[in-house]
Amino acid sequence: MKLVETIAALKQIVGQQKATGKTIGFVPTMGALHQGHLSLVERAGAESDYVVVSIFVNPTQFNDPDDLKKYPRNLQADLDFLEDSPCQLVFAPSVDEIYPSPDTRIFDFGNIGNVMEGKHRPGHFNGVAQVVSKLFDMIEPHKAFFGLKDFQQLAVIKNMVKQLELAIEIVPCPIVREPDGLAMSSRNVRLSAAERQSAALISKALFEARNNAKKYSVIETIKNVVETINSNEHLTTEYFEIVNDDDLMPIANWDDKPNKTGCIAVMCGSVRLIDNVSFS
Ligand code: PAJ
Repeated sequence: MKLVETIAALKQIVGQQKATGKTIGFVPTMGALHQGHLSLVERAGAESDYVVVSIFVNPTQFNDPDDLKKYPRNLQADLDFLEDSPCQLVFAPSVDEIYPSPDTRIFDFGNIGNVMEGKHRPGHFNGVAQVVSKLFDMIEPHKAFFGLKDFQQLAVIKNMVKQLELAIEIVPCPIVREPDGLAMSSRNVRLSAAERQSAALISKALFEARNNAKKYSVIETIKNVVETINSNEHLTTEYFEIVNDDDLMPIANWDDKPNKTGCIAVMCGSVRLIDNVSFS
Protein backbone atom coordinates (compact mmCIF):
# COMPACT_ATOMS: atom_id res chain seq x y z
CA MET A 1 0.00 0.00 0.00
CA LYS A 2 1.33 3.42 -0.99
CA LEU A 3 0.81 6.77 0.76
CA VAL A 4 0.81 10.05 -1.16
CA GLU A 5 0.18 13.56 0.10
CA THR A 6 0.21 15.60 -3.10
CA ILE A 7 -2.26 15.85 -5.96
CA ALA A 8 0.58 15.48 -8.48
CA ALA A 9 1.73 12.15 -6.99
CA LEU A 10 -1.87 10.94 -6.72
CA LYS A 11 -2.59 11.73 -10.37
CA GLN A 12 0.62 10.14 -11.53
CA ILE A 13 -0.03 6.80 -9.79
CA VAL A 14 -3.72 6.67 -10.68
CA GLY A 15 -2.83 7.59 -14.29
CA GLN A 16 -0.34 4.71 -14.46
CA GLN A 17 -2.97 2.27 -13.20
CA LYS A 18 -5.56 3.48 -15.71
CA ALA A 19 -2.99 3.22 -18.53
CA THR A 20 -2.71 -0.52 -17.79
CA GLY A 21 -6.49 -0.84 -18.10
CA LYS A 22 -7.28 -1.06 -14.38
CA THR A 23 -10.63 0.16 -13.04
CA ILE A 24 -10.37 2.55 -10.09
CA GLY A 25 -12.55 2.28 -6.98
CA PHE A 26 -12.52 5.26 -4.64
CA VAL A 27 -13.49 5.54 -0.97
CA PRO A 28 -13.44 9.08 0.44
CA THR A 29 -13.07 9.28 4.25
CA MET A 30 -12.11 11.66 7.03
CA GLY A 31 -10.01 9.00 8.79
CA ALA A 32 -10.43 7.60 12.33
CA LEU A 33 -11.24 4.48 10.39
CA HIS A 34 -13.46 1.70 11.69
CA GLN A 35 -15.23 -1.40 10.35
CA GLY A 36 -17.83 0.78 8.61
CA HIS A 37 -15.11 2.38 6.47
CA LEU A 38 -13.48 -1.01 5.97
CA SER A 39 -16.71 -2.46 4.58
CA LEU A 40 -16.59 0.24 1.87
CA VAL A 41 -12.94 -0.53 1.10
CA GLU A 42 -13.73 -4.25 0.83
CA ARG A 43 -16.66 -3.60 -1.46
CA ALA A 44 -14.40 -1.35 -3.57
CA GLY A 45 -11.86 -4.18 -3.72
CA ALA A 46 -14.52 -6.63 -4.86
CA GLU A 47 -15.77 -4.28 -7.60
CA SER A 48 -12.59 -2.62 -8.89
CA ASP A 49 -8.99 -3.45 -9.82
CA TYR A 50 -7.30 -0.66 -7.88
CA VAL A 51 -8.59 0.94 -4.67
CA VAL A 52 -7.82 4.49 -3.57
CA VAL A 53 -8.81 5.73 -0.09
CA SER A 54 -8.62 9.42 0.80
CA ILE A 55 -8.13 10.52 4.39
CA PHE A 56 -8.86 14.21 4.79
CA VAL A 57 -10.71 16.03 7.57
CA ASN A 58 -12.43 18.57 5.36
CA PRO A 59 -12.73 21.90 7.18
CA THR A 60 -15.36 23.34 4.80
CA GLN A 61 -18.01 20.82 5.87
CA PHE A 62 -17.76 21.55 9.60
CA ASN A 63 -20.26 24.18 10.67
CA ASP A 64 -19.12 23.80 14.29
CA PRO A 65 -15.44 24.81 14.86
CA ASP A 66 -15.34 22.78 18.09
CA ASP A 67 -16.42 19.63 16.22
CA LEU A 68 -13.61 20.22 13.69
CA LYS A 69 -11.06 20.73 16.47
CA LYS A 70 -12.17 17.59 18.32
CA TYR A 71 -12.45 15.38 15.24
CA PRO A 72 -10.19 12.34 15.90
CA ARG A 73 -7.04 12.27 13.75
CA ASN A 74 -4.44 9.48 13.70
CA LEU A 75 -2.96 8.81 10.27
CA GLN A 76 -0.56 6.09 11.41
CA ALA A 77 -3.37 4.10 13.07
CA ASP A 78 -5.45 4.47 9.89
CA LEU A 79 -2.58 3.24 7.70
CA ASP A 80 -2.07 0.24 9.99
CA PHE A 81 -5.82 -0.45 9.87
CA LEU A 82 -5.81 -0.48 6.05
CA GLU A 83 -2.64 -2.56 5.75
CA ASP A 84 -4.40 -5.91 5.13
CA SER A 85 -7.32 -4.40 3.21
CA PRO A 86 -7.74 -4.16 -0.59
CA CYS A 87 -6.64 -0.48 -0.42
CA GLN A 88 -3.59 0.08 -2.62
CA LEU A 89 -3.20 3.84 -2.38
CA VAL A 90 -3.94 6.26 0.46
CA PHE A 91 -4.25 9.95 -0.37
CA ALA A 92 -3.77 12.03 2.79
CA PRO A 93 -3.33 15.64 1.71
CA SER A 94 -2.87 18.78 3.82
CA VAL A 95 -5.57 21.46 3.93
CA ASP A 96 -3.35 23.72 1.78
CA GLU A 97 -2.99 21.01 -0.86
CA ILE A 98 -6.77 20.75 -1.26
CA TYR A 99 -7.57 24.44 -0.70
CA PRO A 100 -4.63 26.57 -1.90
CA SER A 101 -7.25 29.30 -2.06
CA PRO A 102 -10.73 29.30 -0.49
CA ASP A 103 -13.33 27.28 -2.40
CA THR A 104 -16.17 29.70 -3.07
CA ARG A 105 -18.33 27.36 -5.15
CA ILE A 106 -21.98 27.21 -4.15
CA PHE A 107 -24.00 24.09 -4.95
CA ASP A 108 -27.79 23.94 -4.99
CA PHE A 109 -29.32 20.58 -4.17
CA GLY A 110 -32.83 21.94 -3.60
CA ASN A 111 -34.88 20.11 -0.98
CA ILE A 112 -32.36 17.25 -0.74
CA GLY A 113 -29.73 19.62 0.61
CA ASN A 114 -31.98 21.85 2.71
CA VAL A 115 -33.85 19.40 4.98
CA MET A 116 -32.63 17.50 8.07
CA GLU A 117 -28.79 17.70 8.16
CA GLY A 118 -28.94 20.61 5.71
CA LYS A 119 -31.25 22.55 8.03
CA HIS A 120 -29.36 21.75 11.23
CA ARG A 121 -25.84 22.04 9.79
CA PRO A 122 -25.95 25.03 7.41
CA GLY A 123 -23.22 24.86 4.77
CA HIS A 124 -22.36 21.24 5.61
CA PHE A 125 -23.39 19.67 2.31
CA ASN A 126 -21.88 22.50 0.31
CA GLY A 127 -18.56 21.68 1.97
CA VAL A 128 -19.03 17.95 1.32
CA ALA A 129 -19.76 18.66 -2.36
CA GLN A 130 -16.75 20.99 -2.62
CA VAL A 131 -14.31 18.38 -1.37
CA VAL A 132 -15.87 15.33 -3.04
CA SER A 133 -16.07 17.09 -6.43
CA LYS A 134 -12.39 18.07 -6.11
CA LEU A 135 -11.41 14.50 -5.19
CA PHE A 136 -13.51 13.10 -8.07
CA ASP A 137 -11.80 15.53 -10.41
CA MET A 138 -8.31 14.44 -9.28
CA ILE A 139 -8.96 10.70 -9.34
CA GLU A 140 -11.76 10.28 -11.88
CA PRO A 141 -12.66 6.88 -10.44
CA HIS A 142 -14.93 4.42 -12.22
CA LYS A 143 -16.84 3.83 -8.99
CA ALA A 144 -17.04 5.63 -5.64
CA PHE A 145 -18.33 3.96 -2.48
CA PHE A 146 -20.47 5.71 0.16
CA GLY A 147 -22.13 4.43 3.35
CA LEU A 148 -25.88 4.48 3.87
CA LYS A 149 -25.05 5.62 7.42
CA ASP A 150 -24.96 9.11 5.88
CA PHE A 151 -28.20 8.62 3.99
CA GLN A 152 -28.69 12.27 3.03
CA GLN A 153 -25.03 12.69 2.04
CA LEU A 154 -25.48 9.82 -0.41
CA ALA A 155 -28.52 11.55 -1.96
CA VAL A 156 -26.53 14.80 -2.21
CA ILE A 157 -23.57 13.07 -3.88
CA LYS A 158 -25.82 11.28 -6.39
CA ASN A 159 -27.44 14.62 -7.20
CA MET A 160 -24.02 16.29 -7.57
CA VAL A 161 -22.80 13.59 -9.97
CA LYS A 162 -25.92 14.14 -12.07
CA GLN A 163 -25.56 17.94 -12.04
CA LEU A 164 -21.86 17.79 -12.99
CA GLU A 165 -22.52 14.99 -15.50
CA LEU A 166 -19.69 12.86 -14.10
CA ALA A 167 -19.15 9.32 -15.40
CA ILE A 168 -18.76 7.90 -11.89
CA GLU A 169 -20.96 5.15 -10.48
CA ILE A 170 -21.97 5.86 -6.88
CA VAL A 171 -22.25 2.60 -4.91
CA PRO A 172 -24.33 2.71 -1.69
CA CYS A 173 -23.07 0.38 1.08
CA PRO A 174 -25.05 -0.90 4.12
CA ILE A 175 -24.63 0.52 7.64
CA VAL A 176 -22.18 -1.40 9.82
CA ARG A 177 -23.23 -1.54 13.48
CA GLU A 178 -21.68 -2.39 16.85
CA PRO A 179 -23.03 -5.59 18.45
CA ASP A 180 -25.56 -3.53 20.47
CA GLY A 181 -26.83 -1.85 17.28
CA LEU A 182 -25.08 1.54 17.52
CA ALA A 183 -24.08 2.65 14.02
CA MET A 184 -20.29 2.78 13.84
CA SER A 185 -18.96 6.33 13.68
CA SER A 186 -15.61 8.05 14.15
CA ARG A 187 -17.34 10.25 16.74
CA ASN A 188 -18.29 7.28 18.99
CA VAL A 189 -14.84 7.38 20.64
CA ARG A 190 -15.78 10.74 22.13
CA LEU A 191 -18.65 9.22 24.17
CA SER A 192 -18.16 8.57 27.89
CA ALA A 193 -18.86 4.99 29.06
CA ALA A 194 -22.34 6.00 30.29
CA GLU A 195 -23.13 7.91 27.09
CA ARG A 196 -21.90 5.00 24.98
CA GLN A 197 -24.35 2.70 26.77
CA SER A 198 -27.23 5.15 26.25
CA ALA A 199 -26.36 5.61 22.57
CA ALA A 200 -27.50 2.04 21.86
CA LEU A 201 -31.07 3.22 22.51
CA ILE A 202 -31.04 5.19 19.24
CA SER A 203 -30.93 2.19 16.91
CA LYS A 204 -33.08 0.17 19.31
CA ALA A 205 -35.85 2.81 19.05
CA LEU A 206 -35.50 2.91 15.25
CA PHE A 207 -35.72 -0.88 14.85
CA GLU A 208 -38.68 -1.05 17.22
CA ALA A 209 -40.44 1.68 15.21
CA ARG A 210 -39.84 -0.23 11.98
CA ASN A 211 -41.11 -3.49 13.48
CA ASN A 212 -44.24 -1.77 14.84
CA ALA A 213 -44.94 0.39 11.79
CA LYS A 214 -48.11 -1.57 11.01
CA LYS A 215 -49.53 -0.75 14.45
CA TYR A 216 -48.95 3.01 14.48
CA SER A 217 -49.43 5.95 12.14
CA VAL A 218 -46.43 7.89 10.84
CA ILE A 219 -47.08 10.70 13.36
CA GLU A 220 -47.44 8.24 16.26
CA THR A 221 -44.27 6.45 15.20
CA ILE A 222 -42.31 9.70 15.18
CA LYS A 223 -43.70 10.62 18.61
CA ASN A 224 -42.83 7.18 20.05
CA VAL A 225 -39.23 7.30 18.81
CA VAL A 226 -38.60 10.83 20.05
CA GLU A 227 -40.19 10.13 23.45
CA THR A 228 -38.26 6.88 23.92
CA ILE A 229 -34.94 8.50 23.08
CA ASN A 230 -35.50 11.72 25.01
CA SER A 231 -36.48 9.76 28.14
CA ASN A 232 -32.79 8.82 28.47
CA GLU A 233 -30.79 11.35 30.49
CA HIS A 234 -27.92 11.52 27.96
CA LEU A 235 -29.98 11.76 24.77
CA THR A 236 -31.78 14.65 23.07
CA THR A 237 -33.33 14.19 19.62
CA GLU A 238 -32.51 17.00 17.19
CA TYR A 239 -34.85 15.68 14.51
CA PHE A 240 -36.53 12.46 13.48
CA GLU A 241 -38.18 12.46 10.07
CA ILE A 242 -39.61 9.72 7.90
CA VAL A 243 -38.93 10.75 4.33
CA ASN A 244 -39.46 9.62 0.78
CA ASP A 245 -36.12 8.28 -0.53
CA ASP A 246 -36.38 10.17 -3.84
CA ASP A 247 -36.66 13.79 -2.71
CA LEU A 248 -36.36 13.45 1.10
CA MET A 249 -39.76 15.09 1.63
CA PRO A 250 -41.52 13.91 4.83
CA ILE A 251 -44.26 11.35 4.25
CA ALA A 252 -47.65 11.70 5.97
CA ASN A 253 -48.95 8.13 5.52
CA TRP A 254 -47.22 4.77 5.29
CA ASP A 255 -48.65 4.05 1.82
CA ASP A 256 -47.65 7.47 0.39
CA LYS A 257 -44.41 6.22 -1.18
CA PRO A 258 -42.85 2.78 -1.74
CA ASN A 259 -39.38 3.71 -0.47
CA LYS A 260 -39.07 5.60 2.77
CA THR A 261 -36.43 6.02 5.46
CA GLY A 262 -36.51 7.26 9.04
CA CYS A 263 -33.58 9.61 9.62
CA ILE A 264 -32.50 10.78 13.05
CA ALA A 265 -29.94 13.07 14.66
CA VAL A 266 -29.41 12.85 18.41
CA MET A 267 -27.15 14.74 20.79
CA CYS A 268 -25.54 12.23 23.14
CA GLY A 269 -23.84 14.42 25.72
CA SER A 270 -21.88 16.82 23.50
CA VAL A 271 -21.54 14.35 20.61
CA ARG A 272 -23.91 14.53 17.65
CA LEU A 273 -24.90 11.10 16.28
CA ILE A 274 -26.94 10.27 13.17
CA ASP A 275 -28.60 7.04 12.14
CA ASN A 276 -31.42 5.84 9.89
CA VAL A 277 -33.60 2.84 9.15
CA SER A 278 -35.48 1.87 6.03
CA PHE A 279 -39.30 1.68 6.36
CA SER A 280 -39.76 0.32 2.81
P1 PAJ B 1 -16.58 9.78 7.04
O1 PAJ B 1 -17.52 10.17 8.11
O2 PAJ B 1 -15.18 9.41 7.41
O3 PAJ B 1 -17.23 8.59 6.26
C1 PAJ B 1 -16.62 8.08 5.10
C2 PAJ B 1 -17.57 7.09 4.48
O4 PAJ B 1 -17.78 6.00 5.38
C3 PAJ B 1 -18.95 7.70 4.19
O5 PAJ B 1 -19.42 7.25 2.93
C4 PAJ B 1 -19.79 7.14 5.33
O6 PAJ B 1 -21.17 7.05 5.02
C5 PAJ B 1 -19.16 5.78 5.52
N1 PAJ B 1 -19.47 5.24 6.86
C6 PAJ B 1 -19.22 5.83 8.05
N2 PAJ B 1 -19.69 5.05 9.05
C7 PAJ B 1 -20.26 3.97 8.47
C8 PAJ B 1 -20.95 2.81 8.97
N3 PAJ B 1 -21.15 2.62 10.26
N4 PAJ B 1 -21.39 1.91 8.07
C9 PAJ B 1 -21.22 2.09 6.73
N5 PAJ B 1 -20.58 3.16 6.20
C10 PAJ B 1 -20.11 4.09 7.06
O7 PAJ B 1 -18.60 10.96 5.18
C11 PAJ B 1 -17.51 11.50 5.27
O8 PAJ B 1 -16.46 10.97 5.96
C12 PAJ B 1 -17.20 12.82 4.58
O9 PAJ B 1 -18.36 13.59 4.53
C13 PAJ B 1 -16.60 12.64 3.16
C14 PAJ B 1 -17.59 11.96 2.21
C15 PAJ B 1 -15.29 11.86 3.21
C16 PAJ B 1 -16.29 14.04 2.57
O10 PAJ B 1 -15.40 14.74 3.38
